[in-house]
Amino acid sequence: MLIGVPLETAAGETRVAVTPETAKKLKAQGHVVRIQSGAGTAAAAPDEAYTAVGAEITDAAGALGADLVLKVRSPGAAELAQMKPGAALVGMLNPFDRDGLTALANAKLTAFALEAAPRTTRAQSMDVLSSQANIAGYKAVMIAADKYQRLFPMLMTAAGTIKAARIVILGVGVAGLQAIATAKRLGAVIEASDVRPSVKEQVESLGAKFIDVPYETAEEKEAAEGVGGYARPMPQSWLDRQKVEVAKRVAAADIVITTALIPGRAAPVLVTEEMVRSMKPGSVIVDLAAPAGGNCPLTEAGKTVIKHGVTLVGETNLPALVAADSSSLYARNVLDFLKLVLEKEAAALKIDLEDDIVKACLMCRDGQLLRA
Ligand code: NAI
Repeated sequence: MLIGVPLETAAGETRVAVTPETAKKLKAQGHVVRIQSGAGTAAAAPDEAYTAVGAEITDAAGALGADLVLKVRSPGAAELAQMKPGAALVGMLNPFDRDGLTALANAKLTAFALEAAPRTTRAQSMDVLSSQANIAGYKAVMIAADKYQRLFPMLMTAAGTIKAARIVILGVGVAGLQAIATAKRLGAVIEASDVRPSVKEQVESLGAKFIDVPYETAEEKEAAEGVGGYARPMPQSWLDRQKVEVAKRVAAADIVITTALIPGRAAPVLVTEEMVRSMKPGSVIVDLAAPAGGNCPLTEAGKTVIKHGVTLVGETNLPALVAADSSSLYARNVLDFLKLVLEKEAAALKIDLEDDIVKACLMCRDGQLLRA
């Protein structure tokens, strides 16, 4: 199979879908790997690192014109125009973007969106949401530490004592858990909230305090269980009580990191303007939900702004700020997914619709849109 790896063209995208490590493995499986010149440069993988493992260096047309194109982000119109009808595409293609998927189908592609893989044990090694959210959670804390004009740990010095930073983390999925673990290592005092009850134990095992908002009705309890591991929108009654508890914590916090998301929907508003006003000057909010509208209405996607004396970070692609490690995890996710559809030496993909992961990720096949 001729496999192409283009240079990502989305603004600010520094990741690459195949690293020298995974290129070597694909080559060992009898495939030809063509990397667009410069595709890995921002991720600390220069062209020479690919040629050293037997990959070929090509231009955009060479990479996009392959039988199987491996990407990080969904291709734009200019990229699609260079892809072959009947070619296959694997990447983070945004399963909720109907127009984007229609464009892929219209280009007569067979496309797999890796974000659509189920959150099951078997799919764990190819779970791009987890691998990238993990990095985003870490980087969010690093950015918070950088913007915050005080220290994280409590320090007792000859010149007096410095208090530990108080951090509130809202939304404790993969990113939130990593944010807790990272902030804890730096010595902060952490409190966290999530709708899903299973999270409490995980939060406490990392040494943080869970902000308990007990469920008062069967409807609240049922909604909190979520679906497929993901959160569902909570009843207003619960959200109102959560808001009261969160407001108290946010007013006392130095740093707030928000990661609350509900797949396919706008992010829930958890930190209101009133709460931002209640924060101390010099406090920092890092809003990981910025691409989905933000957990704070004052967040500006893609920007860092100061409002009411609080710094709000609205970075929309934190993994791209850690390009080498995020690419190496992503590339391994891609390689593991390919094991399900690409056999050694094979010239064509084998698409087994009995396989729940393959079926879930398949967005369109030979131009036919499969996602409603
Ligand atoms: P996500 O990125 O979709 O959402 C982040 C967090 O926001 C979630 O924990 C969600 O419950 C929370 N949230 C939503 N609305 C909220 C609100 N109003 N207030 C507070 N928090 C709110 O989640 P992510 O990180 O993708 O994880 C989703 C699920 O998948 C989790 O249950 C996780 O444990 C599970 N998972 C399972 C894996 C496996 O078994 N293979 C691998 C990775 C994750």
